[in-house]
Amino acid sequence: MDVPADAGPTWSDIAAWYDQLVRHGSGPHDTAVACLLGLIPDLAGATVLDVACGQGLATRAVAGAGAAQVVGTDASEAMVALARRHPDPPGSDVSYVVDDAQGLTTFPSGTFDGVTCQLGLMDIPDLDAALGAAHRVLRPGGWFVFVIGHPCVLVPDALPAPRPDGRAAVSITGYFDERFWRSSNPNGVRRAGNHHRTLATYLNGLVRAGLVVDAVDEPLPAPRLVEQQPLYAEVPIFFAARATRRD
Ligand SMILES: C[S@@+](CC[C@H](N)C(=O)[O-])C[C@H]1O[C@@H](n2cnc3c(N)ncnc32)[C@H](O)[C@@H]1O
Repeated sequence: MDVPADAGPTWSDIAAWYDQLVRHGSGPHDTAVACLLGLIPDLAGATVLDVACGQGLATRAVAGAGAAQVVGTDASEAMVALARRHPDPPGSDVSYVVDDAQGLTTFPSGTFDGVTCQLGLMDIPDLDAALGAAHRVLRPGGWFVFVIGHPCVLVPDALPAPRPDGRAAVSITGYFDERFWRSSNPNGVRRAGNHHRTLATYLNGLVRAGLVVDAVDEPLPAPRLVEQQPLYAEVPIFFAARATRRD
């Protein structure tokens, strides 16, 4: 799935805006971080790579939850520069590297106990390359935990469709049409574009990469998300999984 050379903003273009969004408190991010940490096994002594780390929200959360060492990596230099400005959790070992998730060429094979990717896989054009790179940098037995926008709900052509009884709902069509798309919302995260893929495509990608699913989640919304977007008390905003490198 290629990224069209359209005139829309890049992640670097909206990096400062994204940093402010996260700093001011975002219901989706509250939900994603809790879900990510809930799927991660014991972090004591673990070295973790946080892929597509953005301004480092999940990187710091994993470090604060007890990992011995966490490296955040993102393709956007602007995002990594913002991540470096945030204070690290006390006593943690956090660093950042600019790299493309589709290769992770900075990192040797078999290095990490865990790889995380929070809200990143749907922004990466070549899913197989990203999952293959995550598998390569994990030690055998290492875990990969990811959170994505729920591919069955965050569909490009989805429309709000409130029910007659007043409950929030969404109308979905075009689910099978995998493609790159952008939100036209000038204040939306997805104006930077993302790749719609079916849930089966994500799960088959894990299979092809040699990552075996141990646990999945469709997290309930954090309180702030219910306040900000009541729809997500009715349908899941995210899908998440933990998968292990077995070989
Ligand atoms: C929605 S943000 C998520 C950032 C962070 N993980 C969080 O939860 O706030 C998506 C991030 O994916 C990064 N990204 C997109 N394509 C990438 C690629 N090929 N390699 C590495 N990072 C990429 C973007 O630069 C952006 O920082």
